[in-house]
Amino acid sequence: MPWKLTPLVLFLAWMASMCSARTRTDLLNVCMDAKHHKVKPGPEDKLHDQCIPWKKNACCTASVSQELHKDISLLYNFNLDHCGKMEPTCKRHFIQDNCLYECSPNLGPWIQEVNQSWRKERFLNVPLCKEDCESWWEDCRTSYTCKTNWQKGWNWTSGSNRCPAGATCSTFESYFPTPTALCEGVWSHSYKVSNYSRGSGRCIQMWFDTAQGNPNEEVARFYALDMNAGAMPQGIGPCLLSLALMLSLAP
Ligand SMILES: *[C@@H]1O[C@H](CO)[C@@H](O)[C@H](O)[C@H]1NC(C)=O
Ligand SMILES: *[C@@H]1O[C@H](CO)[C@@H](O)[C@H](O)[C@H]1NC(C)=O
Ligand SMILES: *[C@@H]1O[C@H](CO)[C@@H](O)[C@H](O)[C@H]1NC(C)=O
Repeated sequence: MPWKLTPLVLFLAWMASMCSARTRTDLLNVCMDAKHHKVKPGPEDKLHDQCIPWKKNACCTASVSQELHKDISLLYNFNLDHCGKMEPTCKRHFIQDNCLYECSPNLGPWIQEVNQSWRKERFLNVPLCKEDCESWWEDCRTSYTCKTNWQKGWNWTSGSNRCPAGATCSTFESYFPTPTALCEGVWSHSYKVSNYSRGSGRCIQMWFDTAQGNPNEEVARFYALDMNAGAMPQGIGPCLLSLALMLSLAP
């Protein structure tokens, strides 16, 4: 008997598609709902300096990319020089961290809802490639700070962040004894240090050369698929079993 588009055949086709592992496409190529992000990613020809790697597809506008390179940007009035001048070699990592935060359309798998006045969503536990974290820490060891969590607890009375009473300025190394302490602590677990290396396709790169495109696209696809598998804890076994059952019942 030739196959006809009977309701049964349509149902079986639908089941087969549900059974196959799929990527959560809603987690791919998206912008977070936060203070300065675009609604949707797209090309931005005029991105500034360290944010240029995202110009083909970005969640930041040119003006945001420009602003985040300033010493006290109007984006958040955040002062990196809160304990005297931060070394330029250290500062460039914070600028890159800001470019990734504002511009990347590949962090969808790590978006979480939050209840904050200035944003509805945040990133949590983005798997940062270990070398990107290590060089950030190495280059900042000799700069100064007064806190381990930069997301809260500042004195904002002057309009930008100042060290709160009782917090003394000391080297990064004394506040962040390890690379992990810095990368995971500084923004309240926005990052989790990955045991994977740059180029592995399994961790997010803060720094990349666009010659081979944006390496974080593949990383987002990998983790989006992984999360979908997590949403089906029994795996596809029961799914295939019921499909076989349906087929055996077919006339
Ligand atoms: C968010 O905060 C507001 C005010 O503090 C509160 O009324 C609301 O229930 C909170 N929502 C969630 C999801 O926590
Ligand atoms: C905040 O800083 C101001 C000076 O800029 C100071 O008068 C005030 O006591 C500080 N507040 C706290 C809670 O440290
Ligand atoms: C990273 O850790 C996971 C689980 O802890 C392990 O399966 C994986 O092989 C590790 N990868 C590398 C590159 O060490």
